[in-house]
Amino acid sequence: MATRRPFIGGNWKMHGDLASSVELVEGLLAAFGTEDVLEQVDVAICPPFPYLQGVGHALRHYAIQLGGQDCSAHQGGAYTGQTSPSMLADLGCSTVLVGHSERRHGLEESDALIAEKLQAALAVDLVPVLCVGETDAQRAINETEDILTRQVTSAFEGLSVDHAGLLTVAYEPVWAIGTGRTASPGDAQSAHLLVRNLLRSMYDEELAEAVRIIYGGSVKAANAAELFACPDVDGGLIGGASLDADEFAEICRIARTATRAS
Ligand code: PGA
Repeated sequence: MATRRPFIGGNWKMHGDLASSVELVEGLLAAFGTEDVLEQVDVAICPPFPYLQGVGHALRHYAIQLGGQDCSAHQGGAYTGQTSPSMLADLGCSTVLVGHSERRHGLEESDALIAEKLQAALAVDLVPVLCVGETDAQRAINETEDILTRQVTSAFEGLSVDHAGLLTVAYEPVWAIGTGRTASPGDAQSAHLLVRNLLRSMYDEELAEAVRIIYGGSVKAANAAELFACPDVDGGLIGGASLDADEFAEICRIARTATRAS
């Protein structure tokens, strides 16, 4: 990693209940104990919407960010079932996942909608984590570069340099999410470098070097070190392994060590 501060996000997806969500946070805080991990690593937790308030309350004295797993492209109105960025901010969220593959592919979210959601989140000072990544079928026919180029370009093209510089990008190959298959460090590094080079061509060197690009897809404590050691991998977006407090805490520690080593 360069001088970028590592970011580890926990994406709890649609798991747990109120009691287990609060227990998971308490377990995580206990796992960190008096360690200084949170001084060196930005950690965010994205619980299901109904548990944001309970989890936010449990986190209130700690430097762990609260995040939404998605947001509406609208701040309010007749949008049954949606949750606006301003509502997330009101609940204490500072970040939000946008464009997760389970929404792009499971719910047919388009690049245009994702771009609107980014704008809506930024309008209320939520820092988006933009998720991008190719499917297995796209990878098999060597379309990874085209897909990443399309997803990154369409997301960033309407953003000012000031807004663009706030984003974190999560490279999450769809075939690696929840499958136990992880991108090799070499594959992750080349995808991350591609994204950084796109930002370099759309903006400038300073922005490209500042934006954090994190990896997601079956990250565990056992494979985190080799991934985080890649020069353009600035942390991770963790699904399954974020549901285990000790495992997630260990991944955060590994991110801290990777930064120290650079
Ligand atoms: P996973 O999920 O770690 O369970 O593969 C990652 C994600 O979907 O963000």
